[in-house]
Amino acid sequence: MSSVFNSISAFLIHRWGGLAVGAALLGGGCVSVDTIAPPVATLSGGGGDAVVEGRRLYLTTCTKCHSAEPVLDFTAAQWATILPEMAEESHFTSTQTAAVEAYIQAVLATASTATETR
Ligand code: HEC
Repeated sequence: MSSVFNSISAFLIHRWGGLAVGAALLGGGCVSVDTIAPPVATLSGGGGDAVVEGRRLYLTTCTKCHSAEPVLDFTAAQWATILPEMAEESHFTSTQTAAVEAYIQAVLATASTATETR
């Protein structure tokens, strides 16, 4: 099983790795981690344990293969496709996937509120 996943990953990295590395280089120097993954305390809905755990996973497990992608670079619709794939890449349990999903949704909700009030 893992060899199948490895070859899929190898294919994806081969095909898309250049883009991911480019984004990592751009993000590395000048974008702060708080911009990439806003702290839970700054989220409009506050954050329960799942949201806190989701951010932790986002900045740890989700950075094993690439740097942390800015949450707000993707819409909710894009995340609905991306997250299941990346949760599988991360070998997450359903609880861990739900935690990252809760965190991403909280960030998106906060951003949409901010846009409305501006
Ligand atoms: C096993 C390696 C691996 C892990 C772990 C991993 N990713 Fe990825 N990720 C990739 C690869 C390879 C790509 C580029 C190919 C692709 O888009 O499928 C990628 C791409 C992405 C993208 C860009 C997608 C796009 O359409 O541009 C996002 C966002 C992302 N990952 C988020 C995450 C999150 C969130 C987690 C944790 C839940 C995670 N990744 C964990 C390998 C990984």
